Amino acid sequence: MKWTNLTALVLATVFAGPVQADPEAERLALRSLYEQKFPGVDLEEFKNGVYAIDEKMREQWVEMEDFPPYEIAIDEGEELYNTPFTNGKSYADCFGEDPGVKHNYPMFDEAKGEVVTLEVAINNCRQENGEEALPWLVGELAEISAYMAYNSRGNNFEIKIDSPAAIAAYEHGKQFYYTRRGQMNFECRSCHQQNVGYMLRAERISPSLGHATHWPVYRGRWQYIGNIQKRFQECNIQVRAVPFEPQSEEYRNLEYFLTYMSNGMELNGPGSRR
Ligand code: HEC
Repeated sequence: MKWTNLTALVLATVFAGPVQADPEAERLALRSLYEQKFPGVDLEEFKNGVYAIDEKMREQWVEMEDFPPYEIAIDEGEELYNTPFTNGKSYADCFGEDPGVKHNYPMFDEAKGEVVTLEVAINNCRQENGEEALPWLVGELAEISAYMAYNSRGNNFEIKIDSPAAIAAYEHGKQFYYTRRGQMNFECRSCHQQNVGYMLRAERISPSLGHATHWPVYRGRWQYIGNIQKRFQECNIQVRAVPFEPQSEEYRNLEYFLTYMSNGMELNGPGSRR
């Protein structure tokens, strides 16, 4: 083991506790952890989740991607995105000419003092223009998000944490990740770090690095496209914990933390998963 990696591992252990957050050191430590576990896998590959570490599942997935099951959602999303609101304005008035902005989300809104995910930003845009908010997890909101993700493809994530309030939100999200919950008494880490690569029933557990790169996702088991917070709920339910509300402060901060961990990685959403 190179001593730099060893240092990173020690840092990972230290920073997992309730010490002052150093997001950048923590991001590098997480990368090192998976580098140690999967020495043959290029870290950039983790944007493909479990398909980076399971050859057989990867083959099936590559086949599925020949006719991407999320394509319809992108088309629907494009139409929704370009349909003007009743007041004549549109999403472009909120997000600018280029809808490809997903790699900047979630962002910490200093004025509001909270984390704003892309889904929250879309609904804020609607409400500021006199439209009703859309349901959070699936349907039109996920389709608009899919269209925006598609236009953001190829950009690297650039999540910023540059104020004490932003660091506090990140820290809160990190604590969520490292808190035991449910009847199984598992942290996110228990599965996605300590048991990464092992099978849980029919599923192989993926690394947390790259967990945020490819949303929203069309999931075979769902038969539709949904966003990352739907997956948070499932992972909570999996350990028999009560899931939080979509876009609750807990999940927004968790998404902020988890996406920061994917900083510098390429956005490749929308994605498909089994
Ligand atoms: C009991 C084990 C377990 C725990 C605990 C767990 N997960 Fe998962 N998670 C899974 C399995 C299994 C999958 C599906 C296979 C995969 O992609 O890892 C999954 C998938 C995911 C995915 C989607 C991966 C992708 O590539 O699309 C995300 C994101 C995720 N989990 C986040 C979390 C977070 C955040 C927590 C803590 C709140 C958590 N998980 C806790 C087992 C777990």
